[in-house]
Amino acid sequence: MQNVATQMLKADEVAQAALILGRGGLVAFPSETVYGLGADARNGQAVAQVYAAKGRPSFNPLIVHVGSVEAAQTYVDWTSQAQALAQAFWPGPLTLVLPLKPDHGLSGLVIAGLDTLAIRQPAHPVMAALLAAFDGPIAGPSANTSGRISPTRASHVMADLNGKIDAVLDGGPCEVGLESTIIGLSGAPTLLRAGGIPTKAIEQCLGQPLATDTDATDITAPGQMQSHYAPHATVRLNATSAEENEVLLGFGTMECDLNLSPAGNVIEAAANLFEHLHQLDRTGKDIAVAKIPDTGIGQAINDRLKRAAAPR
Ligand code: TXA
Ligand code: MG
Repeated sequence: MQNVATQMLKADEVAQAALILGRGGLVAFPSETVYGLGADARNGQAVAQVYAAKGRPSFNPLIVHVGSVEAAQTYVDWTSQAQALAQAFWPGPLTLVLPLKPDHGLSGLVIAGLDTLAIRQPAHPVMAALLAAFDGPIAGPSANTSGRISPTRASHVMADLNGKIDAVLDGGPCEVGLESTIIGLSGAPTLLRAGGIPTKAIEQCLGQPLATDTDATDITAPGQMQSHYAPHATVRLNATSAEENEVLLGFGTMECDLNLSPAGNVIEAAANLFEHLHQLDRTGKDIAVAKIPDTGIGQAINDRLKRAAAPR
């Protein structure tokens, strides 16, 4: 959506917020850490809108919010360490990174091509009510324009994103006010981002010290690594037609093997990007990609494509 006034919803209007999410809309939600910009994590178009609204320059993977441990277990391989941490700190400002299950059903844009998922059960009662009403996974980065300060009041979100999202669900000021602690559990327990739960408390719970890899998040997120998104095939950019042994990934009206958006819509193209690259990579041919406009989320698409085409 664009240039339509954003609706301010009161804390008791979670049913309305759930309806908006259900039809692929964006709702900023309160959490105990910061306000998040929520979308149905299974809906690629909706998730692409999140990146567009934030003006995020790259597809950094998003945290998926769930209403229970049982819900989390449907998406990731649960471990005894995950169980111990969840028991101690969920619901709360702790995000766990665990291996994704096959057939997870989440949008490829949420996981940004990784084989792990960052997942969290938030404690804020209004967000808990929203998760129960929506009854599905809600993807959400902080609800701010990329590069700006994270919002801890509904009014912060409104001042920043009015006209770019459908609604803000007002749950009052955020209790924690800074983002969740992120712990990687797909290998040795690793601190990926310091946050709402002190490192010490986590080490005590696990009975072992945490490895540190804070480079894995923020600006140098896993998705930022030069080779991360590279398919097996060679990728050639700004193509107008396929050469021998190439398949063509198109954009707009053109003859091609797969089209990111026949209508020439960059948001739709972003939603399709990873899935289409995967599909074309399975043909065993090299991939030629049409020129994508560098406007709006097109910048993020081109950032991704540049990495895919970079020499390795
Ligand atoms: O408190 C919070 O965590 C807030 C609220 C809304 O839940 N959310 C938040 O999201 O801070 P965001 O997108 O600003 O930060 C998510 C971080 C990013 O640095 C991203 O790189 C990292 O989580 N991340 C996501 N998936 C990951 C993964 N599979 N492996 C490692 N890091 C991951
Ligand atoms: Mg953020």
